[in-house]
Amino acid sequence: MNYIALCSLGLEKVLSNELKKLNYSITNANEGMVEFSGSDYDYYDLNLRLRTAERVYIKIAEFYSETFDELFDGINNIELSYYLPKNGKIIIEKVRTVKSALYNQSVIQSIVKKAMIEKLKKEYKINTYNEEKGIYKFRVYIKRNKVTIVLDTTGEGLHKRGYRKLVSEAPLRETIAAAMILMAGWKRKHVLIDPFCGSGTIPIEAALYGLNMAPGLKRNFIFETWHNFNSEKFESYKKKAFSEIKYSELKIYGFDKDFKMIEIANKNAGNLEKYIHFEKSNMESINLDYEEGYIITNPPYGDRLGDKKHAEKLYEQMRYLKRKYTKFNYSVVTSHEKFEDFFGYKADKKKKIINGKQTLYIYEYK
Ligand SMILES: C[S@@+](CC[C@H](N)C(=O)[O-])C[C@H]1O[C@@H](n2cnc3c(N)ncnc32)[C@H](O)[C@@H]1O
Repeated sequence: MNYIALCSLGLEKVLSNELKKLNYSITNANEGMVEFSGSDYDYYDLNLRLRTAERVYIKIAEFYSETFDELFDGINNIELSYYLPKNGKIIIEKVRTVKSALYNQSVIQSIVKKAMIEKLKKEYKINTYNEEKGIYKFRVYIKRNKVTIVLDTTGEGLHKRGYRKLVSEAPLRETIAAAMILMAGWKRKHVLIDPFCGSGTIPIEAALYGLNMAPGLKRNFIFETWHNFNSEKFESYKKKAFSEIKYSELKIYGFDKDFKMIEIANKNAGNLEKYIHFEKSNMESINLDYEEGYIITNPPYGDRLGDKKHAEKLYEQMRYLKRKYTKFNYSVVTSHEKFEDFFGYKADKKKKIINGKQTLYIYEYK
C-alpha cells in the first residue's frame, strides 16, 4: 500500500527521519508530502505515532488525464470496493490543480464523486448507492496532468493530540513544537527550558517524546468510522504503544510571565504535569543552575501579540539567556525574519516553515 504523510512545508526532512526510524523507506519527499510504502493496516500505527505529520493518506490511484472522460475512466480503473463499502459517505474534500488541462475544481470534485459512485455500483452490483455509514474523505491532486487520488485516514489534523483544552493567544502547532525538539536533537536525559511557554505546547511535546509516549493515544481517527475497521487490531497497536512508554524523571521547565498561562499549561499537561515544572517567571528571573541543556522556545512574534517593536526589544533582552546559559543549544521559532539581528547572534541554521497562511522561521544555535 502506498502512503503519503502530509506536513507543514519545510518539515519534510524531519518527518522522513521519523518514518525511517519506524523502518519505512521513503520514495519521495517534497512540497509538504512524504511518500512511502507500507502494509495494509500500518495507518493505525502511523496515526498513533507520528509527531510531525499533519495527516496520513492512502494513495489509491495515480494516472494521467487531460479530459474529464479520461478522469472518469481513470477512476473506473480503481478497485474501489477495496477501500469503500456499498454505502459509505464519500466526500471529495479538496482538489488542487497545478499546470494541468483540468483545472475547474468544483467540476473535478463532482466528476470524481460521480465516477466513484458509478464504479462502486458496478463492483457491488447494486442499482442505487446510499451514503449511510462511515466517512471516506478524498483529496485530488492534479499536477502537470498527473492525477493523484488519496484517502484520508486521519480526520481532524494530527496536531490535535487531544491534550490541549485551553490555548494561549498565539499557540504553536504541536507538530511544529515536536519538529523543533526532534531537529534540535533533545533527548530525555537533557535539560529543556522554554522561557516563553504560553499554554505549554513545547514542554508537553517534549514530555511526550521524552517518555516515548505516542502522541495519538488520546484521540480518535476517521478510520474508526470505516466498514473494515478492525478494533482488535487497533487495540493491539495501542497496547504496544502503551507498553513502550518509558516513565522516568525528566528535566523539562516551562516559564511564562503570565500566571494565567501557567495555569493553562498545567491543565493542558494533565497527567504529564509531574514530568514538567511550570512556573510563573519573567525570562530574566529564571534561575536554574544547569551548565548544559536546550532552550527551545516560541517568544512573542509582534504580529499577533503586542507590537513588533516590543517583540524586537524582547529578542534583545534574550541575550541575557545566552550570557547566562552559554553552553546551551537554542532553538527559537518566530515569524520575525530578522530575529538574529536583535538577538545579536547568527544562527547556525535558519529553517523556513510554511503552515497554512503563516510563515515561521526556526533559528537553531548548536
Ligand atoms: C507566542 S507565546 C507562546 C505560545 C506557546 N508556545 C503556546 O503554544 O501556547 C509567547 C509567550 O511569552 C510570554 N512572555 C512575553 N514576555 C515575556 C517575558 N519577558 N518573560 C516571560 N514570558 C513572557 C507571553 O505571556 C506569551 O505567553
